[in-house]
Amino acid sequence: EIYPTAKEGSKAVAAEIAALIREKQAANQRCILGLATGSTPKYLYAELVRLHKEEGLSFKNVITFNLDEYYPLEPDALQSYHRFMKEQLFNHIDIPEGQYFIPDGTLPKDKMKAYCEQYDQHIESVGGIDLQVLGIGNNGHIGFNEPGSSINSHTRLVTLDNSTRLANGYDFSNMSQVPRLAISMGIGTILKAKKIVLLAWGSHKAKIVARSVEGSSSEHVPASLLQQHPNTKFVIEESAALEL
Ligand code: GLP
Repeated sequence: EIYPTAKEGSKAVAAEIAALIREKQAANQRCILGLATGSTPKYLYAELVRLHKEEGLSFKNVITFNLDEYYPLEPDALQSYHRFMKEQLFNHIDIPEGQYFIPDGTLPKDKMKAYCEQYDQHIESVGGIDLQVLGIGNNGHIGFNEPGSSINSHTRLVTLDNSTRLANGYDFSNMSQVPRLAISMGIGTILKAKKIVLLAWGSHKAKIVARSVEGSSSEHVPASLLQQHPNTKFVIEESAALEL
């Protein structure tokens, strides 16, 4: 789906999420959302906050799981995705404490394997993700699944590409401060979602969007693996569609 602006694309996705939440409410069910960070979903979260404040959209039946977090990183660090999610969304809506989950960047390394397995089991135990929101990195990464990530990968500790550390470096005071590791849901975890919506804005994303949608589906470009999912769409801005 191609929209003239990021704002219009974000509004359409927010409306879709709101409809899903309300449909689940009407059926007395929980709505399980997979959420992303980065600059891309900011408008989407702003619109969800607006729908909550102005149109009474409630998140009481919503459970969310975030894709990733830097490792190691304290949740209150400026660059932390915990902080980002609270500031952009959770502090402004009525989602109950204890219904949103973000990978914990503070656990010791020897606890990570078991913790990551539990993260995936937790998602399954609540019935799996109904709708997963994704952004896309310049190298095609989704979450922090860098090129080469297996289609069967689960939540795990990953090594960040240098290109990703450079791209995300603006958040940190200098490159040496950018963590070399992160916790990320796997591609296999993401592909289990019932529905996936990838967002991309701006001409700098045009090339990787085209490669992901029209190129062969390969682990070299993690987002191209979404071609193998039965219910995925890309919601992009006109400028991100220039290479299609
Ligand atoms: C980060 C996040 C990804 C995100 C990507 C794109 O690396 N881990 O989930 O999709 O960056 O970032 P942006 O939305 O700022 O372009």
